[in-house]
Amino acid sequence: MNNIRKYEVKDRENLKKICIETSGLPTETAKDKDFLFLMFNDYYAEIEPDNVFVAVNDADEAVGYILCAENFEKYLSVFKKNYLPRIKKLGFRYYYMAIGEIAVHKLFAKKYKAHLHIDILSECQGKGTGTALMNELKNHLKSKGIHSLMLSCGMGNKQAIKFYKKNNFILHRNIMGSCIMICDF
Ligand SMILES: CC(C)(COP(=O)(O)OP(=O)(O)OC[C@H]1O[C@@H](n2cnc3c(N)ncnc32)[C@H](O)[C@@H]1OP(=O)(O)O)[C@@H](O)C(=O)NCCC(=O)NCCS
Repeated sequence: MNNIRKYEVKDRENLKKICIETSGLPTETAKDKDFLFLMFNDYYAEIEPDNVFVAVNDADEAVGYILCAENFEKYLSVFKKNYLPRIKKLGFRYYYMAIGEIAVHKLFAKKYKAHLHIDILSECQGKGTGTALMNELKNHLKSKGIHSLMLSCGMGNKQAIKFYKKNNFILHRNIMGSCIMICDF
């Protein structure tokens, strides 16, 4: 298993590398990549770095991450102002995907205000690192008085769904091709 530590600014490029390798979405063009960073990395690393943890190798390079926005209302207002307009400039297809992702979260955000993303490079998967990242985030949130989390996951991502269930998430709803999973802790 890899060591876990708080995110540092020096991890930024590795976060992007992990995001591209694990997204399961198209990564052929610069726009594809910019979309992934804007949708799944930038807000969390730039606005809520305190809620980001990384798994590192022996050279202290990030090989996995867990990213969290602790309050959906704050996330939505900053995301709409700073990130969504840049996604819109990439093209309608990207804008549509972003709106869909936000809309799904919004449906459940009254009760489950905090949401997360977790990704680990393939060669480091299946060794307990994801579980360690998840526990680190939960403990960190608990210390801030936050006791629930939500995420959305592609319905076809059986490996991740199994991982989340093993980490005490339950399937809340299937919607628009995504599983909404929730966890109280
Ligand atoms: C999903 C992910 C974060 C899990 O992290 P991980 O470090 O691989 O998971 P762990 O080693 O802590 O495994 C915990 C449990 O998850 C499940 N799991 C993990 N890897 C698995 C695999 N390759 N196949 C099936 N189940 C797997 C198992 O139930 C495992 O428990 P077990 O070892 O007792 O069988 C990681 O595999 C990953 O980044 N996958 C690619 C990106 C992704 O899908 N991210 C989530 C998007 S919603």
